[in-house]
Amino acid sequence: MAKTAKRHRCLDCGSISVRWVGRCPTCGEWNTLVEESRLGSLERAVGDLDLGSMPVPLASVDVAEAAAVPTGVDEFDRVLSGGLVPGSVTLLGGEPGIGKSTLLLQVLVARAAAGHRALLVSAEESAHQVRLRAERLGPVPPSLLILSGTDVTAVHSAVAETAPDLVVVDSIQSVAVGAAVPGERRAAGVPGSVTQVRECADQLVGMAKTNQVATVLVGHVTKDGALAGPRTLEHLVDTVLSFEGDRHHAIRLLRAVKHRFGPTGELGLFEMGDAGLSPVDDPGRLLLGDRLTGVPGGIVLPAMQGTRPLLVELQALVTPMALNQPKRAAVGLDAARLVMTLAVLGQRADVDLVGTDVFASVAGGIRVTEPAADLAIALAVSSAASGVSLPADLVALGEVGLGGEIRQVSNLPRRLEESVRMGFGRAVVPASAPPGPAGIELVRVDSLAEAVHRFGCTLPSTSAAV
Ligand code: TYD
Ligand code: MG
Repeated sequence: MAKTAKRHRCLDCGSISVRWVGRCPTCGEWNTLVEESRLGSLERAVGDLDLGSMPVPLASVDVAEAAAVPTGVDEFDRVLSGGLVPGSVTLLGGEPGIGKSTLLLQVLVARAAAGHRALLVSAEESAHQVRLRAERLGPVPPSLLILSGTDVTAVHSAVAETAPDLVVVDSIQSVAVGAAVPGERRAAGVPGSVTQVRECADQLVGMAKTNQVATVLVGHVTKDGALAGPRTLEHLVDTVLSFEGDRHHAIRLLRAVKHRFGPTGELGLFEMGDAGLSPVDDPGRLLLGDRLTGVPGGIVLPAMQGTRPLLVELQALVTPMALNQPKRAAVGLDAARLVMTLAVLGQRADVDLVGTDVFASVAGGIRVTEPAADLAIALAVSSAASGVSLPADLVALGEVGLGGEIRQVSNLPRRLEESVRMGFGRAVVPASAPPGPAGIELVRVDSLAEAVHRFGCTLPSTSAAV
């Protein structure tokens, strides 16, 4: 039998030749003849190029695609600047027991109650346990589905079959790829290992994009946020939320650490109660509720949390040095700013803190790192060091410069309005501040020394000189 000749086709004109030649006999082009069997794969490769990998004018990209859909849990939506974006992946990190499962169950219930299909992949708790928890939160809508198990492949099929518009995977550390095939699972590591966590997240990100389903992954982190897992995922996902708070207190804070669809400054505040998490409508009252007035070292700061002013209590304690080295400890404050403020106090306002330990904290687990807190920190420390308490109706706002000058802060009018609403009658502000709202007296100060003297917080050795 004659051997079948390998046919060649010209890429330019399409004519066939029974043997390869350098120049096409039909169109005369050089090096255009390709063996037909190779041509198949070449054409397939060209055909596989989907439009998604071709550059398009940015202006022609549909903006509606990235529109956030409200979940119905307002504080959650606020942090996400509106809600969850279809096809996006959000990582919710937090310490075990802080309330991640509770928060997301409430989000799922809210979504399902609005008539959408929502799917919970519960890899840590049995369906029975989840049902019991859901009972505490209220009625369970029929369109809330649950899949209990740890296999990511099963999640893929469930999503393909039920087409939900929200999927929650609780948690990323307890799911695995290839959980059904023991050999494969061993190869990829046990659930929770860095390899498994990354592989699962990779697959779930793919699933979210392909099915255009908003996906939330729960990730446990330890106190220092160091657990192998969530931290390595941060660049894979669109949004990273952090759920914080002191487990021994009811208040819980939700903030965005990374958000591809909006700003990250917004803070969500919840209170954990018998029926789950409820929004804190008036956080100022909750945060200032336990304040002791008339104690040296305490002052109120109208801080900004995202776009919201929030009144928080700053406290300082100054004690004789316990060890050979002075200790400076900050909780909820920027430690570097505290040290800098103490240096300025010593050099420019005669509040000498050599030989003392200084502790400063923000009450309620709130974190304040803005420069606007400098003046309040300085006054709290001076008050603690001098033993002279500050007026109970006073708030303080201002950035302290290295020369001891007091500088402007952002959003001053909104901070002052909130202070008035909360019943404060006086505010220490930079001398250059614009007029304030009605109901609050502005105490304008040029320098830190002026502020310290104005409230009598000078140290005994220096007060005589003033
Ligand atoms: P959970 O959501 O299980 O935390 P995580 O998923 O972050 O580990 O919440 C655990 C705590 O919340 C648990 O100690 C019980 C408490 N809790 C309430 O106080 N009230 C409630 O209605 C619910 C559901 C939980
Ligand atoms: Mg949980």
